[in-house]
Amino acid sequence: MKNLAIFASGSGSNTEVIVRHFAESELARIVLVITDRKDAGVIERMKKFDIRIRIIDKEALMGEELLSVLQTARVDLIVLAGFLRKIPGLIIDAYPNRIINIHPSLLPDYGGKGMYGMNVHKAIIENEEEESGITVHYVNEEFDEGEIIFQETVEIDPDDTAEDLAYKIQQLEHKHYPEVIEWVLNREFID
Ligand code: GRF
Repeated sequence: MKNLAIFASGSGSNTEVIVRHFAESELARIVLVITDRKDAGVIERMKKFDIRIRIIDKEALMGEELLSVLQTARVDLIVLAGFLRKIPGLIIDAYPNRIINIHPSLLPDYGGKGMYGMNVHKAIIENEEEESGITVHYVNEEFDEGEIIFQETVEIDPDDTAEDLAYKIQQLEHKHYPEVIEWVLNREFID
């Protein structure tokens, strides 16, 4: 049984889907949810589950405190699900190929600094792209540049708004992220 930590700054819809997916799993369990925002929707969402949630401030994130929290909880894999802060080198070094992220575009397109949430979808609609998608990738020290693990595309209709696209992307994320996490667990720990 592997221990997962999920990091989330936002509403936590992906976090909830992942928690539900692994509730009965023999492969992994969610031992910890980390957020950097006191008002993050994920905090309210997690109340119905028996999962430890920890709110960290900027300083904890920069220092060794976070690493010690993860090690004490015996975390094997870190799953980023809408976590907006950069992961410090200390954590990346301690968890090589053990941190993954989901990004709401087909990286390398529409990635990098400032490209998160609705910013991504608005830019894609403004550029009249015909498709978008999701990317799951390993996390390294540069935003959105680690090795790509999985991508799935979605068609954009000519009259789709950024909100329509956000909805389509969210559906795609919920459908695929849990199974991609399983695939990573199998690849990293069992194969
Ligand atoms: C997702 O679109 C994810 O791709 C991005 O942040 C969003 C998180 O949404 N990195 P939620 O908080 O899981 O609803």
